[in-house]
Amino acid sequence: MATEKILVTSALPYANGHIHLGHLSGAYLPADIFVRYHRLKGSNILYVCGSDEHGVPITITADKEGVTPKDIIDRYHEANKNAYEKFGMSFDVYSRTSLPVHHKTAQTFFKSYLEQGLLVEKKSMQFYDEKAKMFLPDRYVEGTCPNCGFEEARSDECENCNALYDPKELINPKSKITGEKPVLKETSHWYFPLGKFQKRLEEYIKTGSEKYNWKDNVLQYCNGWFKDGLTDRAYTRDLDWGVKVPLDNAEGKVLYVWFEAVLGYISATKEYFEKQGNADGWKDFWQDQSTRYIAFIGKDNIVFHTIIFPAMLMAWNDGNDDKYLVPENVPANEFLNFEGKKFSKSRGWGIDVKEFLDLFPADTLRYTLASNLPENKDTDFYWKEFQAKTNSELADILGNFINRTFIFAGKHFNGKVPEAKDHAEIDKEMLETIASYPGKIGALIERYKIKDAVFEMMNLARAGNKYFNDSEPWVSVKSDKQKCANTVNICLQTIYTLAEVFEPVLPGTSKKVFSMLDAAPTAWDDCGKTNLPTGHGLNKPEILFTKIEDEQIDEQINRLGVVEAEEKYDEPLITFEDFSKVDLRTAAVLEAEKIKKSKKLLKLKVKTAGGVRQVIAGIAESYKPEELIGKQVIIAANLKPAKLMGEESQGMLLAVDDKDGKVQVVEIGDNVNHGTKIR
Ligand code: 2FM
Ligand code: ZN
Repeated sequence: MATEKILVTSALPYANGHIHLGHLSGAYLPADIFVRYHRLKGSNILYVCGSDEHGVPITITADKEGVTPKDIIDRYHEANKNAYEKFGMSFDVYSRTSLPVHHKTAQTFFKSYLEQGLLVEKKSMQFYDEKAKMFLPDRYVEGTCPNCGFEEARSDECENCNALYDPKELINPKSKITGEKPVLKETSHWYFPLGKFQKRLEEYIKTGSEKYNWKDNVLQYCNGWFKDGLTDRAYTRDLDWGVKVPLDNAEGKVLYVWFEAVLGYISATKEYFEKQGNADGWKDFWQDQSTRYIAFIGKDNIVFHTIIFPAMLMAWNDGNDDKYLVPENVPANEFLNFEGKKFSKSRGWGIDVKEFLDLFPADTLRYTLASNLPENKDTDFYWKEFQAKTNSELADILGNFINRTFIFAGKHFNGKVPEAKDHAEIDKEMLETIASYPGKIGALIERYKIKDAVFEMMNLARAGNKYFNDSEPWVSVKSDKQKCANTVNICLQTIYTLAEVFEPVLPGTSKKVFSMLDAAPTAWDDCGKTNLPTGHGLNKPEILFTKIEDEQIDEQINRLGVVEAEEKYDEPLITFEDFSKVDLRTAAVLEAEKIKKSKKLLKLKVKTAGGVRQVIAGIAESYKPEELIGKQVIIAANLKPAKLMGEESQGMLLAVDDKDGKVQVVEIGDNVNHGTKIR
């Protein structure tokens, strides 16, 4: 059979936060298992992923933290890349959509649609924040839903009742940036006519699903969209952060993140091949119709991968000589929840991948997640189940079988593969069993039934243990050494097969076992044969899995739902601009005296760079006037003068209440000139 060429993508995660176990179960672990299996199968497979670095969530996080979007994406791109690596993800490339190659790719698609006359420019009314001087994307506006009264509804849709409405119907709209009431202002955007592609998309999904067995959850979702009818979709947004609209009259407009993020798969492939010194190599994968393209995603991304992305590729193909592939299959998973609830960072519910892997080995997590993938319905991660899977399956079944066989071979056969001959019925049956597993497991992976495949992998280890027990080598070693040799030989062949069939799920363990066997993997289709020749020397065994203690698990369970309270600031927040309006300066105290008839006030003469001024301060109960002379303090220098007890105050002194409730003046050391601006 000719080598298959396969392109695999996993949804590009937003570089806006740490990835958690739910991400892994949705679009990453199943894809990695599929890819690793195909590599062993000998397919020419390329696995592409990277960070999605545009979009409103990133700008919102940046605003909240008072940093730039670039700071955010740099932080999370690196963190997520490392977490995936530690988890054993085998991406060929982990790219980023902020790279020039991506901006160029996305702009080229947009321009092609424009040239084909496909995009329609339409005017619409959008919320505009006059204080922040910007149009507000949906998520930046909050108000009361005109349908159900939910108070955190978005500008044109309500999360609570799913109602869609015109932004002008939203009650009490509020800008999330300034807290101000936004106005509706006219803007214009380019729209992609999705409706024009509906027929072709329906056909694509119908034939695809028949031929390639698309998952029911995906089909149902698509049919829902088709039933409602596909309509024009805005291809652009009023925003500074993103891929600029490549037109002269489009200042302040970027491509809508979803329309460019999906093209990120193509850009990432380009990056990969450019680095290989084969700049056109990406075409072999994207533009050779014999390539199979599989897009792994979570269920929240279905419409973008089964409708929008294919429509975009079809639209390109209509107007250009080079033709792109559309996905052969989009095996979307449902969601993984955590101990019965949705993951929630703010409620302390769940665990980041990095945090997890600082505590437990990657393979134990891979196994638990892979055994419980949300392939057809939402599933849950439970700490106790993780412990049980690790202790009772990985350690007690797989680890134990490998360990006892190695110990036997070491003790009774000098650490070498003993010769097997004159097989008994039980041996023949076991050899047949081993031979049947690679095909059985492979067929399940190929049909995206990964959970079932993992179950079969462990079944082979179960069969190995049963064979070992039934053969009783501890008896035969004394009574019939050849029978014992047959048993040990076949157990070692089983271990070889296990090391290979488990590789997609347990890559770290598989590597260790191959090293213990002093062997390398063979082609998948051959791994159920007898691969270890007689006399082959084995290396020393090592413990593959350490059991997890109850205390370790209890500690994690006790942490659930515990959150360090986040500091809350009083609304409305001020902007940096607001803050910088206050001119804070250092000043030296030249004179100080009491104000008659006031217990609290002192009259000070202070010197800034510009000269001497009078400041009245409420500090008389804490300081004698002479204590202040010579101190360097901070004043708000551009405060409008005010009269206090008949005395003019030309500024305000900065002070705090100490632990005893006394006022303390904020002081600055001598090493700063007076009149220096505080920043
Ligand atoms: O849901 C998400 O995290 C998106 N960033 C996925 C994008 S997938 C593709 F479009 F790149
Ligand atoms: Zn509502």
